[in-house]
Formats: sequence, C-alpha cells, structure tokens
Amino acid sequence: MSKRLTYLKTGLWALVGVLASVTVIRFAYGLGAVTNLSDGTPWGLWIGFDVMSGVALAAGGFVLAAVVYIFGLERYRPFVRAAILTAFLGYAAVAVGLFYDLGLPWRIWHPLVNWQYHSVLFEVAMCVMLYLTVLALEFAPVILEHPLFDRPFFRSLLRGLKRISILLVIAGIVLSTLHQSSLGSLFLITPDRLHPLWYSSSIYVQFFISAVALGLMTVVLESLFSGYFLGHKVHGRELAGLGLGAAAVLGLYLALRLGDLAARGILGMAFDGSWQGALFLFEIGVSAVIPMVLMLIPSVRSRIGGVGVAATMVVGGMILHRLNVSIIAFARPEAFSYFPSWEEFAVTLGIVAGAMLIFLFFVEHLKVFDDVQGHVDPEPRRFEPSTVRDLMAPSRALPRRYSLALVGGAAVALLFLPLDGAEYQPAPAGAPRWVEGAVVSRADAPAVLGFAAAAAAGAGGAVAEPRRVTPGGAEEKLLLLIDGNRAAELALFDHEAHEARLGEGACGSCHHLNLPLDEGSSCSECHRDMYAPTPLFDHGVHEAALGGDAGCAECHVEGEPKTMASATACSECHEASGSEVIEAPADRWAPAAGYMDAMHGLCVTCHEQAVAESPNEHPEGLAECSTCHDPDLREQRDRLAPRKQGEPGAVAVGRAPRK
Ligand code: HEC
Ligand code: HEC
Ligand code: HEC
Ligand code: HEC
Ligand code: HEC
Ligand code: HEC
Repeated sequence: MSKRLTYLKTGLWALVGVLASVTVIRFAYGLGAVTNLSDGTPWGLWIGFDVMSGVALAAGGFVLAAVVYIFGLERYRPFVRAAILTAFLGYAAVAVGLFYDLGLPWRIWHPLVNWQYHSVLFEVAMCVMLYLTVLALEFAPVILEHPLFDRPFFRSLLRGLKRISILLVIAGIVLSTLHQSSLGSLFLITPDRLHPLWYSSSIYVQFFISAVALGLMTVVLESLFSGYFLGHKVHGRELAGLGLGAAAVLGLYLALRLGDLAARGILGMAFDGSWQGALFLFEIGVSAVIPMVLMLIPSVRSRIGGVGVAATMVVGGMILHRLNVSIIAFARPEAFSYFPSWEEFAVTLGIVAGAMLIFLFFVEHLKVFDDVQGHVDPEPRRFEPSTVRDLMAPSRALPRRYSLALVGGAAVALLFLPLDGAEYQPAPAGAPRWVEGAVVSRADAPAVLGFAAAAAAGAGGAVAEPRRVTPGGAEEKLLLLIDGNRAAELALFDHEAHEARLGEGACGSCHHLNLPLDEGSSCSECHRDMYAPTPLFDHGVHEAALGGDAGCAECHVEGEPKTMASATACSECHEASGSEVIEAPADRWAPAAGYMDAMHGLCVTCHEQAVAESPNEHPEGLAECSTCHDPDLREQRDRLAPRKQGEPGAVAVGRAPRK
C-alpha cells in the first residue's frame, strides 16, 4: 500500500478522535456548549454542510444508477458501485449529522409515527429514511459477494436482491428526485429572509438540477481520489464523458437560474456592487460557468487534470451554493450574527473523515472497484516505536498507528473543549409595565386576562378608558405586564385584585425585601438576571450609606466575628413585614434568585397553596401553567405593537449567542 494512503488514514483517524471528544461534550452539555447556534440562528454549519451539501454530494448514486440501468450506457458501469457506496455513506453521514443538530435527538424517529402531511421537513425525513434503506439494499450484493457469505442462505438472498435490483434502482431515483428538490422547497417559506439572488419560487428545481451536475462531478472526483490513493486504473475516456454530461446539465441549470432572475427583472442586482452581488457572481462562475466552458473544450476534457479541475470547481461551488442559501445569504437580526465554532467544524470534518474511512475499508475488502479488491495493508516502513515493537506482531503496527492518531486527536481536542459546560449568557431582567388590560371572569375557571385593545377589537368596540365593562363582558383595568427579558414568555398580572385579596398593608407578603424608603420595589431591582442568581450585598454601599465608621455597629456586634451569620439581618432595614409567601431564610444574605425563579417562587407557590388549602373556593386549574402563560398573549402583543426586524423583542430571544 502506498505511503500516501497511510498518511491519509492517519489524518482521518485523528479527525475522528477529535470528533469523539467533541461528541462527549455535545451530548453531556447540549448544543450551547459547543456551537454558536442561537434561537436566531438555529440552522448552522451542520445543516448547511452536513445535510444540504451532504445530500447533494450523494446525488452521484442515483444519477449513475439511472445512466447505467435506465439509459443503458454500459461503459459507466465501473463507477456505479462506488457511486452507490458514496451515496449510502453520504446519507448515513447526514443521519449522523442530524443527531448532533437535533435538540432532542432521541426523538428522531417521531416522523415515522407522527405524520405531518403538510410539512416539507416531514417529506425530507421520510425520504432520507427510505432512501437510506434502498441504498443499503442496493449495496448489499457487494457485501454478500464476499467469501465470508458463501453460504446457501446468503447466496439465495443475493439472488433475490439481484432480481429486484431494477425496482430498487427505480425507487432510489424517485426518492432522490423528491428529496433533492424538497431540500430546496424548505426555503420557499423564506422570501423575506433569503436574498433575492438566491430565493426563487422555483428554487426546488434549481436544487434538483444542480444536484445532478454535482453528482456526476462527485463521481469523477472520487474516482480520481481513489485512483491517487489506491492506485487503481482511472478510466479517462469515461471521465470525459461524465464531464460532458455535467456540462450539459450545468447549461440547463444556468439557463434556469439566470432566466428566473431575468424574468423577475433583478439580474442587475448581481452587479450593484453589494457583497451579495459579488458572492453571487463568484458562486455562479465557480460552480457552473467556468467548469461548463472547460468541459466543452475537447482538449481540456480529455485530460485527467482538466476534468479534475472542473470537478473540483463544481463540487466546491455547489457546496458554496448550499451554504449561501442556508447561512450566508440568509438575513438575520444583527444580534444573531453567526460564524460556526471550531467544534462545529470539528464535527463536520470528523463525520466526513469517518465516512471516508468506511469507504476505504469497503474498497479494500470488497469488490467496489474492479482492480483493487482484497487490497490489505502491508507492513509499514516507518513508525516503529522500539519500546513496543517486540510486544506486537508487525501486522499490528498499522492499527497501532491509527489508534495513536485517534487517541491523540481526542486528547488534543479535550484541551480546548469547555469541560465545564456552556458559558452562561447574562439575561438582564427589566421592570414590569402597566398596560391597559381586560379581564373576563368565568364561573369555575380562573379569569382570563388580555390586552384591552385586543379585547375591544374582538367585541367590536374601540379602546376605551380602563375599568369599563365592554359589551363582550370584559372588565377593562390596568394590569401589570411582567416580561423580565422582554421576550419568550410574558404574564399579565392583576396586581389590584391580588392586593385586594390579601388585604390592606399586605404588600410585604410579596414585596419581601425593598430598597430603603421604597414600598414596592420592583423585583427586578434585586432579581436582576432572568435565570441566574445575583449576588447583592455591597459592603461599600452600606458603609457609605450608614455613616462610615460610625455605622459599623448597625450590623456588627463588638467582639463577634464579622460574618454573614452574625451581621444584622437584611430585613431589619429592608422592610419585609411578615412575608407569608417566602419561607426562604429572608433574614440572611443569599444571592437573589433568578427573575423567573423569583416569579415562580412567589406566584406558583401561592397558587398551589391556595388550591391545596381550599380546593372548593378556587377555580380548577389555578396552579397550572395556562393560568399565567397564555400563548395568545404574545400574539396579541405582537399584533398590537408590530416591530421591525432586528429590534429587541421582534424575535424570540431565549439565549443570546455565545461570544
Ligand atoms: C401563577 C403564575 C405562573 C404559573 C402558574 C406559571 N408561571 Fe411561568 N412565569 C410566571 C411569571 C410571572 C414569569 C415571568 C415572566 C417574564 O418575566 O417574562 C414566568 C416565567 C416563565 C418562564 C421564563 C420565560 C422567559 O421569558 O424566559 C418559563 C419558561 C415559564 N415561566 C414556564 C412555566 C411553566 C412550564 C409553568 C407550568 C409548569 C409555569 N411557568 C407556571 C408565572 C407563572
Ligand atoms: C400578590 C403579591 C403582591 C402584593 C400583595 C403586592 N405586590 Fe406589588 N408587585 C407584585 C409583583 C409580582 C410585581 C411586579 C414584578 C416586578 O416588579 O418585577 C409588583 C409590582 C409593584 C409595583 C411596580 C414596580 C415597578 O417597577 O413598576 C409597585 C409600585 C408595587 N408593586 C407596589 C405594591 C404595594 C404598595 C403593595 C401593597 C399595597 C403591593 N405592591 C402588593 C406583587 C405584589
Ligand atoms: C449593613 C450592614 C453592615 C455594615 C453597616 C457593616 N458591615 Fe461589615 N459585613 C456585613 C456583612 C453582611 C458581612 C459579611 C459579608 C460577606 O460574607 O460577604 C460583613 C463582613 C465584614 C468583614 C469581613 C470581611 C471579609 O471579607 O471577611 C469585616 C472586616 C467587616 N464587615 C467590617 C466592617 C466595618 C469595619 C464596618 C464599618 C465601617 C462594617 N463592616 C459595616 C455587614 C455590614
Ligand atoms: C442597617 C441597615 C441595613 C442592613 C442590615 C442592610 N442594608 Fe442594604 N441598604 C441599607 C441602606 C441605608 C441602603 C441605602 C443605600 C442607598 O442610598 O441607595 C441600602 C442599600 C441596599 C441595596 C441597594 C444598593 C445597591 O447595592 O444596589 C441593596 C441591593 C441592599 N441594600 C441589599 C442588602 C442586603 C442583601 C442586606 C443583607 C445582607 C442588606 N442590604 C442589609 C441599609 C441596610
Ligand atoms: C431588595 C432586594 C430584593 C427585592 C426588591 C426582591 N427580592 Fe426576592 N430575594 C432577595 C434576596 C436577597 C433573596 C435571597 C435571600 C432569601 O432567600 O431571602 C430573595 C429571594 C426570593 C425568593 C426565594 C427564592 C428561592 O430561591 O427560594 C423569592 C421567591 C423572591 N425573592 C421573590 C421576590 C419577588 C416576587 C419580588 C418582587 C415582588 C422580590 N423577590 C423582590 C432580594 C430581593
Ligand atoms: C398570595 C397568594 C398569591 C400570589 C402570590 C399570587 N397569586 Fe395569583 N391568584 C391567587 C388567588 C387566591 C387567585 C384567585 C383565584 C380565584 O379566583 O379564586 C389568583 C388568581 C390569579 C389569576 C387569575 C385571574 C385573577 O386575577 O383572578 C392569575 C392570572 C394570577 N393569579 C396570576 C398570578 C401571577 C402572575 C402571580 C405572580 C406575579 C400571582 N398570581 C401571585 C393567589 C396568589
């Protein structure tokens, strides 16, 4: 075996090692720990490359199958097995990549039982699963031909598979056609997000046609690749044929794509000097125009180098196209600018490396290419650590070398990985606001709170002064809009009604600590972060406020240790008159809980208590999420106060992107 191959495999194993380490962190701590993804950029490199480009690169499988089995161009038969193997590995890689990308990967099988007929993504999922099965069956004969399976059972299995092979080929072509195009259809719902030079109402046709050209060129590149590393024969004349075929398809693709832009009258956008225009020209040039022209020149086509250059351009260019559509030319609020983290690159590369290793394994042990069957690693010439040489047979040396690469890769990756999990992103909490609200009382369920304007509109009237009963039966009054992070969830709170229920002067049951001289300090003054606790006590502030040295005695007793436990309780000065609700050690210092926990600690605790103590006096469901979290409320608010893209609050913000 060539030295090149050994080096290649060593490199690939090292990448798989890095992947192994990243995998542990990814699944131990979640997406936030290793990716730059956010609620504003949920689809990143793993979708853009692993899925979008991975599927397209696998197109060679169905294209070659069609060329040979349907159109009967027998001279391309030597490429079919390799193309199908690549397609199989490509799709398997897509599936593996999805496991990394899905928030709840263990639910990946759900589309099988929860059918969503109207969802393009459902079609994509089903096609991937079905086509992966078809590819496995298409490739199975190659495995069954191995001497290992020379048994009566496997022989009849093999015969059976060969008999239905034409059905499999047809199924494969149908599924691929559906699926290559539906990856494009996914973007039909993004006319306002995707740049017009890429968006098109016929984007799915473009995806399909470009996949055909890309598939042909991938086969070329792969044949050159295995020729270089495995030293088998390269069929120059056939490669030229594939190149010419690709040129024809690229011509069609260009006509469609440019024609579509021209028909919409926006072809000029490509030359308007914007970076998108330049990117578009570059992409079209590299992925289609130049390789097409090259392949039309007979003297270039007939040279292996010529085909190789064109194939490289098409493959690189089309991957760029998929990345442009799914990431680069896709508009998102500035707060969510995205560049993949190194871990995302590592996963992508690691999966590709793993697939390549499996490809090489199959090529070496099975009859994938005519002339490299049974190619087994001979003894290595280099790398013989003398310490272990005598312990192991020479035939173990290569596996040893690859294991070392694997472990080395994993170890190096560990040095740079966030072993303590995702870095927390601060999410400052803000004060509540008073809004004109509407309360609809119901007999045996908690009253429903809404926005007055929305309620009035629903009842056919105009917005009226607060505290008026609308014809629809809603009482209009001022409500508190609680939305600490101005985003994902909000709650309307009838402060007045709650105050009244607890009686005069019961402010302290909820406002368990106040700032000096204040009566109802906003909880967000102290519970300052939406999710994380805030350490509050500032010794310097208190010294200054309490008269410096003269004030020490306010908190410390002479002769006792100056600690938290011995100091005067916060509530002595920060007035918390008999807090009913909070049984936390309100007398001792502790960091103030996150805003969400403070709210739930107050509201949910009391609602649960109320229900537990006197179930008959309170409506059913008082302690359930829906009493405070009404999904309609957000819609109402968004409808009443439309915002422009990029403004805070316009997009659901759960976590800010990791910096
Ligand atoms: C008695 C009222 C009440 C009940 C019941 C309640 N919550 Fe909340 N919840 C709140 C309030 C108030 C907030 C703070 C809202 C804000 O600041 O955005 C909140 C915040 C949240 C947040 C954070 C929202 C964000 O913007 O990040 C989540 C998530 C949440 N609640 C989930 C739940 C779930 C799940 C349940 C049911 C198990 C539930 N809540 C029950 C009152 C309630
Ligand atoms: C049932 C619990 C409860 C009771 C009782 C209560 N409050 Fe509140 N109050 C709240 C909550 C919850 C908020 C809003 C959350 C926040 O401030 O972040 C609030 C907000 C306020 C605000 C507005 C703060 C701001 O930043 O705009 C004032 C003022 C206030 N309360 C005063 C009082 C007074 C005075 C009393 C006694 C008469 C009282 N509250 C009784 C729970 C209560
Ligand atoms: C408002 C109450 C208050 C006042 C006034 C106050 N302290 Fe403290 N002091 C505390 C608390 C509470 C702690 C514990 C803080 C902690 O553990 O983080 C503390 C801790 C200390 C410590 C130990 C610090 C350490 O890092 O271990 C010293 C020393 C101290 N105080 C001295 C003083 C002196 C001197 C004054 C007057 C100039 C003073 N304090 C005024 C509340 C107070
Ligand atoms: C002896 C009375 C006293 C005690 C005990 C006390 N404080 Fe204060 N605290 C004050 C005074 C007075 C101020 C006013 C400072 C100002 O002018 O804003 C204050 C201000 C504050 C502030 C607002 C200033 C800031 O840092 O943002 C917070 C928060 C606070 N205290 C928390 C606490 C906590 C937590 C404890 C218990 C560990 C505590 N205080 C104990 C008297 C006290
Ligand atoms: C002056 C500062 C301050 C204000 C204002 C304040 N809190 Fe707190 N809160 C704290 C501190 C400090 C703690 C932690 C110590 C303790 O448990 O008492 C705390 C604890 C709590 C807890 C217990 C959390 C747990 O982990 O069990 C709840 C619930 C709570 N606050 C709710 C509220 C609500 C609701 C409001 C507004 C109505 C509010 N707080 C206003 C300082 C404040
Ligand atoms: C001290 C106990 C207590 C606290 C604290 C409390 N609630 Fe309530 N809440 C009640 C009771 C009691 C009812 C009335 C149920 C009934 O109709 O009998 C109620 C009713 C409601 C309703 C139904 C509409 C209405 O006003 O009748 C909503 C919504 C609600 N609460 C939200 C909240 C939110 C949000 C918080 C926290 C900010 C909160 N509650 C805190 C006791 C509490």
